[in-house]
Amino acid sequence: MPERLLSELREAIAAGRSRFEYLRDLGLDEVPAGVRGGPTEPGRAPGRESLEEVRAALGDCQRCGLCGTRKTLVFGVGNPSARLVLVGEAPGREEDEKGEPFVGEAGRLLDRILFAMGLSRDDVYICNVLKCRPPNNRDPEPDEIATCEPFLIRQLAAIQPQMIVALGRFAIQTLLQTKAPISRLRGTWQQYQGIPLMPTYHPAYLLRNPAGKREVWSDMKQVMERLRVGAG
Ligand code: URA
Ligand code: URA
Repeated sequence: MPERLLSELREAIAAGRSRFEYLRDLGLDEVPAGVRGGPTEPGRAPGRESLEEVRAALGDCQRCGLCGTRKTLVFGVGNPSARLVLVGEAPGREEDEKGEPFVGEAGRLLDRILFAMGLSRDDVYICNVLKCRPPNNRDPEPDEIATCEPFLIRQLAAIQPQMIVALGRFAIQTLLQTKAPISRLRGTWQQYQGIPLMPTYHPAYLLRNPAGKREVWSDMKQVMERLRVGAG
């Protein structure tokens, strides 16, 4: 495949379109074998990038400075064909140790929220905007978000969930490409690439502000309702 086509394809994928759609729009009915990228799962459109392929593309990522301080790259966990994806901010200390998102105190609260929704970690997919821990859990820097975000976009394009929950300011502002404050967006349906997205508070915020749990629960009830309707 010519280099120019490859780089356009990368941009299209980064923009959230599947290879299949991109090649079809180019007028190619058949996805060339060379870009299929291995066997596809049942039910997955031919040529759609898999989560394994996105993980492989990240490799031993050295694209930003966080690679110098992280222990483990935290890609994401859960069901590759999840109907619901939850997106957080960045790994913390425990996540960095274990290589899994939301396994610390905020994660245990997230597990309880999922349980209350009648869901488990195996039903959903969980990942973060940043795949590597910022030192001392500082806020993600804009350049780190810009560097890492294409992989989040590709994860979401691989899963194609029916719904997304964005946990906290960084996930909300990154996915919605907005600077609007969380206080204005929370609890109201938004759209990410045509997928309904519910912005809500981050579980770590709830640990500091337990009163916010009521609002998160009200947001999650909206998600449950919409998932039920979608299941119909
Ligand atoms: N906070 C996050 O945003 N993500 C994690 O994985 C853990 C804590
Ligand atoms: N501010 C944030 O950054 N996140 C929250 O979840 C709530 C307030």
